[in-house]
Amino acid sequence: MRTQVVIVGAGPAGLMLARLLWLEGVESVVLERKSAAYVLGRIRAGVLEQGTMDLMDRVQVGLRMHAEGLVHRGVELSFGGDQHRIDFASLVNRQVLVYGQTELTRDLMAAGGAMYIYEADDVELHDLDGRSWVTYKKDGATHRIDCDFIAGCDGYHGISRSSVPQEALTTYERIYPFGWLGVLVDKPPVADELIYAQHERGFALCSQRSPTRSRYYVQVPADEAVAEWSDDRFWDELRRRLNPSTAEALQTGPSIEKSIAPLRSFVAEPLRFGSLFLAGDAAHIVPPTGAKGLNLAMSDVSYLADAFIEHYRERSGAGLNSYSHRALERIWKAERFSWWMTSLLHVFPETGAFGKRMQRAEFDYLKTSRAAQQSLAENYTGLPF
Ligand code: APR
Ligand code: PHB
Repeated sequence: MRTQVVIVGAGPAGLMLARLLWLEGVESVVLERKSAAYVLGRIRAGVLEQGTMDLMDRVQVGLRMHAEGLVHRGVELSFGGDQHRIDFASLVNRQVLVYGQTELTRDLMAAGGAMYIYEADDVELHDLDGRSWVTYKKDGATHRIDCDFIAGCDGYHGISRSSVPQEALTTYERIYPFGWLGVLVDKPPVADELIYAQHERGFALCSQRSPTRSRYYVQVPADEAVAEWSDDRFWDELRRRLNPSTAEALQTGPSIEKSIAPLRSFVAEPLRFGSLFLAGDAAHIVPPTGAKGLNLAMSDVSYLADAFIEHYRERSGAGLNSYSHRALERIWKAERFSWWMTSLLHVFPETGAFGKRMQRAEFDYLKTSRAAQQSLAENYTGLPF
């Protein structure tokens, strides 16, 4: 088989890229290791920036998102129970949309476009410096696809980044000494907007998926086991970290999903190696505190799609040559914001009493300074693509 672009990975990055290319007449094949059902079973975050919404509209799959997504014009920050609202609308005249990543993935999958090959095993990339080709196994047979380019959209644990010789990449990493224990529950959200809470027992987040489904998180040590957390223990711990009136309003129920996600900041540079281009989680990870992971994957693939389209339409390599630099500029800004939100809101055992006072001072500053609030709002609602 021959195609123009092989896309490895059918997460949001790979599916969006395939759709952007297809609408402009660029051919691609998407190779995904898991089944479509498995991909749709993963529970991920769900806050969309305006740029992500615009991209969904551009690829003509935005209808359900606009109908079912919940517009949020602000967010609540709680510090030891002292709650303060950041009003995006008046600060930066912007908003975000609460719409699960799983739903966005479902919409992109249903729209189709490119050729999608699920349950493709042992994907291998060949001759990244020359005429590239990709092999994979399916139903016991090995298949080969020749291509012009490869888009590595296969997430942090994918094979794309690890196919690049180690000396060609520089990586930057910070692993936080804690994770997020998340629970999904079929109960109405405790509040209209998201609540990010810092508390001496640890961070907590009240999020939502729909008017009847909520998502909650508490900070736990990095080596914690989910089995240690009964539903009752989770709800008790969450209530302790919220302000009393919120804790009282919380509607609890049996968890329909419960898992622990580690927190990490990670960037690999550059994003291009010969004919291979990295995008999304394959290239970078942010801790979830700023809700940036999905949105960053979307800005990467919008730049990458533009570069491929320019290559085929204008026979110009300018976009492909500048992709890495252009994407990394936005990636590092989102890394900074995610690291900052994480630093403000979590308990860091190693920073001691001084660290705690710095967090308190930062929160007090945020409460009283419009400039500080504007900075948070500008970043949270998303820097321009
Ligand atoms: N071969 C083929 N597919 C692979 C391979 C492989 N060797 N390794 C991983 N994959 C697939 C995974 O099964 C997954 O479906 O690549 C896909 C990568 O998707 P995501 O991990 O969702 O990454 P991305 O599309 O970059 O989206 C980023 O998703 O993970 C969240 O927090 C992240 O919100 C962010 C967004
Ligand atoms: C979520 O709803 O899962 C969610 C929301 C906001 C975040 C992280 C996760 O910052």
